[in-house]
Formats: sequence, C-alpha cells, structure tokens
Amino acid sequence: MLEKGKGTRIVVIGTGFVGSSYAYALLNQEVVDELVLLDLNKEKAEGDAMDLNHGMPFGAPMKIWAGSYDDCKDADIVVITAGANQAPGETRLDLIEKNAKIFHTIVGAVMSSGFDGIFVIATNPVDILSYATWKFSGLPKERVIGSGTILDTARFRFLLGQHFKVDSRNVHAYIMGEHGDTELPIWSHADIAGKPILSYSQIDMKELDDIFMKVRDAAYHIIERKGATYYGIAMGLVRLTKAILRNENSVLTISTLLEGEYGLNDVYIGVPAVINRQGVREIIDLELNDEEHEKLHHSATVLQQASKPVND
Ligand code: 2OP
Repeated sequence: MLEKGKGTRIVVIGTGFVGSSYAYALLNQEVVDELVLLDLNKEKAEGDAMDLNHGMPFGAPMKIWAGSYDDCKDADIVVITAGANQAPGETRLDLIEKNAKIFHTIVGAVMSSGFDGIFVIATNPVDILSYATWKFSGLPKERVIGSGTILDTARFRFLLGQHFKVDSRNVHAYIMGEHGDTELPIWSHADIAGKPILSYSQIDMKELDDIFMKVRDAAYHIIERKGATYYGIAMGLVRLTKAILRNENSVLTISTLLEGEYGLNDVYIGVPAVINRQGVREIIDLELNDEEHEKLHHSATVLQQASKPVND
C-alpha cells in the first residue's frame, strides 16, 4: 500500500465548513498532488473545486476535482468530515445515532472502491466514529486515525503560551481522552522548554483550571458565536496529513484503538502517538498520576457506553 508510483492523493468526504477549510489549507500549504472532493450535495463539491482551482495561479500546481467514490481506490488518505454537526447546546455525543448511520454508508462505499490507504476521521463524536470506521472497514487499527484531541491540545498550548507569554510551539502539554466533555489535561507532563509548568513559582492552580475549562468548552463558545468551528480543526487535519505523507514520525494527540495501553482496551480515545506513512506507528504510554489515570478511565467508560449503537 501507499507506494503507487504516482502523486499523492487525498479524498475529502464532506465539503461543509470543515472539509472545505481543510481543502483550502491543503492548497495553501502545498501538501498533496491530487485532491478529490465528495459531498452528498454534488454541486457544493463542484463549486468548491472550481473556487479552489481559481487560486492555483497564486499557489503551487496540484489537481483538484469533484469526484466519486471510485476515486478512493487510488487515494493515500480518505478524510471524512461529513455528517451532522452540533447545534448550540448539543454535545458531540448527541450526534452518535445520526452520524453512525451515515458512516456505515460512507465507509462501505469507500471500501467497495478497493481503497487500501489510511482513513482520517474528523466528524463528531470523533472517537466513536473512528472506532466505527475501524470496525466497518476491517482495516488494521494503525490505518484508521481520528483527529481526537489534536485541536484541544492546540487550544491548550495556545492558551498556555498566552498565559506564560511564550511561543505556543515551545509549550509541550497534552489534552487526552474523549474529544469532548470528559477530556483531561495532563499537567504532570506539561512543560515549557523542559521546565515543568507546575514548577513555576508564580503558579496559580485556579488560573490553570480556568485555562483547561476554556479548552474543554471552546467549541461551545465558538458555536454560540458563529454556529460552527472549522479553521482550527482544518489546520490540525493538515498537520496530521503532513505527518502521514511526509513520514514525519511526529507525536500528535489523535484518537486510536487502545489495546492494553493505559490499562484500557477496545476503545478509540485521544492519546499522544507517533504518526508516520504507515499511520499510527506507536502509542506513547505516559506515566499518569492517580487523578489523571482515574479521569482517563472515566472518559473511556463514557465512550464505551456511548459506542453501543456501533456494536449493536
Ligand atoms: C471542535 O472542538 C466542534 O469538535 C469541534 O471545535
């Protein structure tokens, strides 16, 4: 798989706010040779392809078209962003029934094309739909990756960078667990250039808790204001795409299947993992403190209970 002696190809399924922002970011960052857009609303995918193609003279050459499921056969990565998204006040888990059905159809159609690449899942609830995609596709777990807490970790680093007045790229800190209400901050492994955040003398735990709550509730605050979130996740998806296509072995917090790591099994959940051309090369099994361990297990239990519609 993946070595096809041709340019790299990504198929994006779902060209709503997230899918089209991702496509735009891919074009700007010169990541891939071919980009295929698919949407239930074919005209929307066609319009996006036309619009993006008109930006080509200002960027690097690549091929972009509105295609069909047949185009998945030669894709290196299929990214799914399709499905219902949260209305104000709805949680991500409220979307499970609707989106699991949609995924059954989409994943079946992709696999019927002869697809043998990597799935990247962004639709919510992302952990459960990644688990569903792994089950429905029959692909090895390494090749079904959910965006997990990649965006929450970015939000966390951004806010910590602002708080400590340092470049967020020099903040090493992770959000793990469900991409949703039960996620947790890993303060025991949060540092700035190697100095543990909890060792800073001016540390105020109340302020740090507020930062975490802003991260956890960020999507609600954005949805209240503009109806949806898309730029942040689109940038996160491009980061993940680059880590795969460029065989970067980058550590990103994505959703993957745990098989004994962190004492958990049979659940897709956000953890730091090494990502390369094969997908998930390795899960980083951090030593958590008791509180973090307990919260991660609680998050996993919530996800496993909510996964019932997928297993039934
Ligand atoms: C986000 O966290 C809604 O999952 C989406 O922005």
